[in-house]
Amino acid sequence: MLELRLSSNTMASTFSAAATLLLVSLLSCSLTAAQESKAAPNASSAQINQRVEELLKKMTLEEKIGQLNQVSAANFLNPPNREEMIQKGEIGSFLWSVDSVQLDKYQHIAVEKSRLHIPLLFGYDVIHGFRTVFPVPIAMAASWDPQVPEKAQAFAAREARASGINWTFGPMVDIARDARWGRIVEGAGEDPYLGAAMARAQVRGFQGAELGAPDHVLATVKHFAGYGAAEGGRDYDSVYLPETALRNVYLLPFKAAVDAGVGSLMSAYMDLNDVPASGNRWLLRDVLRAEWGFQGLVVTDALTTNDLIIHGFAKDESDAAYRALAAGVNVDMASRILSTQLPGLVRSGKISVAQIDDAARPVLAVKIRMGLFERPYTDLSKTSAVLSDAAARDYARIAAQRSMVLLRNENRTLPLSKKLSSIALIGPLANDGTDLDGGWGAEGETPAVTVEEGLRKKLPNAVIASARGGEIRRTIPSRFDDFFPGGKKTSPLTPEENSKEFADAVALAQKSEMSVLVLGETANMSGEYASRSTLELPGRQEELLEKIVALGKPIALVIVSGRPLNISWASEHVPAIVMAWQPGSEAGNAIADILIGDTVPGGKLPVSWPRSAGQEPLYYSHNVTQYPESDPTYRSRYWEGPSTPLYPFGYGLSYTSFSITDLRLSKTELKAGDALEATTTVTNTGAIAGDEVVQLYIHQRAGSTSRPIRELKGFARVALQPGESKTVRFTLGKKELTYWSESRRAWVQEPEQFDVWVGGDSNAQLHASFRVAE
Ligand code: BGC
Repeated sequence: MLELRLSSNTMASTFSAAATLLLVSLLSCSLTAAQESKAAPNASSAQINQRVEELLKKMTLEEKIGQLNQVSAANFLNPPNREEMIQKGEIGSFLWSVDSVQLDKYQHIAVEKSRLHIPLLFGYDVIHGFRTVFPVPIAMAASWDPQVPEKAQAFAAREARASGINWTFGPMVDIARDARWGRIVEGAGEDPYLGAAMARAQVRGFQGAELGAPDHVLATVKHFAGYGAAEGGRDYDSVYLPETALRNVYLLPFKAAVDAGVGSLMSAYMDLNDVPASGNRWLLRDVLRAEWGFQGLVVTDALTTNDLIIHGFAKDESDAAYRALAAGVNVDMASRILSTQLPGLVRSGKISVAQIDDAARPVLAVKIRMGLFERPYTDLSKTSAVLSDAAARDYARIAAQRSMVLLRNENRTLPLSKKLSSIALIGPLANDGTDLDGGWGAEGETPAVTVEEGLRKKLPNAVIASARGGEIRRTIPSRFDDFFPGGKKTSPLTPEENSKEFADAVALAQKSEMSVLVLGETANMSGEYASRSTLELPGRQEELLEKIVALGKPIALVIVSGRPLNISWASEHVPAIVMAWQPGSEAGNAIADILIGDTVPGGKLPVSWPRSAGQEPLYYSHNVTQYPESDPTYRSRYWEGPSTPLYPFGYGLSYTSFSITDLRLSKTELKAGDALEATTTVTNTGAIAGDEVVQLYIHQRAGSTSRPIRELKGFARVALQPGESKTVRFTLGKKELTYWSESRRAWVQEPEQFDVWVGGDSNAQLHASFRVAE
């Protein structure tokens, strides 16, 4: 965990009088050698185990299998006789319902009418809010402040728990290096170090200090593992990742979540190296249980036991149940294949009762650890007070402000003058509360404050008029459109109606003092089942933008989307660009805060922003080629344009300016296992207060394998008054300098020369170097 401590010591005297010493401790980093990670059982886990064994002794085979059975509580995929099944102990958990009365009723049946009174778990996708909607996860990662997702998920957990949900299917920690993949919106972007920090923070937010904390829920780290590397960015497609990529990149945020005590883990849908992730014994047993010591439960993704057949892996349902159980699955999400097939497999002797006990143990243990046997019910008389608590809304605004990234700001176009007489607010996303919320909403979620509402409050004397400029919609609808708020859209406009809206928007821009365009993607254009082959602005948005720029009047562009889009033209022709992502319930207020300058943007990109889809997959931490970028004879690997991103990973501007200077290492040679300290000074060189995210990257020059050109190993978001300096201190030790070597097939720290850079993005230039001695 990244920890900031303010103190002063003698070094402070070498800086300006206002300087403060900022200590950044990176003592617990995401990269932990496998042998250090086994969770040591403590006294309370011994007691829990004893309770589990006592329960198992009393349970029938059917009751044990019932714990593995997760059933839909919604109006699809649901068995008709759910109440009878609960009473007979044939269901261990439900999902997909936010109907607190229904959930409460089911819990009463389980606890009061089933033979062994085992409480139920109620799961739901609480991804970035429940009633109050926070920015989408990729946006919260763009805050580079782990407190943001931690606090947001704590509010979300509180609202969900007050409504009877005790289990969320989050955080999603899949590394995504290809923006064509729609689910990039649900994670923390491309980097394992940033991803691990966001994973830990979200586990803490959802679960609290420990599993069972009041007002919190059981968290699920998902989708184990590699889902973000789906071929071609196509959702659900096969993934081929060598062990070096898995261990050094894709598994790290999962490991961080496990070390943070996450209580459940979801196995992914797709084939990983030709073995479906939910039938992948190496992942679920060798890595997760044996190496990492994971004690929680493994739930499949929805219907994934059945997918083992669809993939051409299992022959039939019986074989699918056998393989899922043997691989290490504990809970079968919605397919009911384990519950129907396991009794026969036990009778035929293919599966032993001991294996069923083994599968049921973590489910019972989680229920005990959560205190559900003692406190199974939700006090529904308190639900509405929790759901209307303004504190969550207040934090949603802060989270949204901290997530936004200023990509361009020529001639100080932003912040806007408070004296503006008229603004044309243009684009299909400016006034759509559901799209501004983003995907994965729950019934009853608060539609976002629109940008028009936000701007009106800030500029009461200006004329603010809106024009949509034409609608945007998916060419192929989403299969989730009917399930989520905002999914049920109106029927499409005719081409004539669209053209009229387009012309009206241009006319409005023409007669206004300035235009603010809010362009991007609707909520259902990213997320699950939302991959794209291009990253162009959907519909006629690019044409609209170019037309309005051609008017020659002041203009600012706000992008609302769950992924980076092709804004190459805008990056040269639109003076001000803000990436707002999908900001949640307080969207319009937070966007207005940034546009008007009441809040100074400080977010940074958690992804390398591509120039076009053809560059994907694109990430900064690639290996050094024989024509490195640093080589003056460097030849771009595309003949029609640069291979560098439009904006680098870690990039983001401010309304003030910063300098990062004076990089010092406490030593230039260290023994393997020792640590050194890197310090640097960050100064606000502008006239207003603002935040800079100081980032530290390393590179190992040689070794038993090639190492990436740069790897993030430390960051700190630092708030600075005008003229103020702070010293940022990073620790580089065994954890930061160890990696998994494909050639040595082990975690290694090698005696080699290392480069260090610090700066405000992944192109940081301030350099030093050190050596790990033999
Ligand atoms: C998604 C998961 C989600 C599950 C339950 C699946 O389609 O891949 O992320 O948790 O559904 O809703």
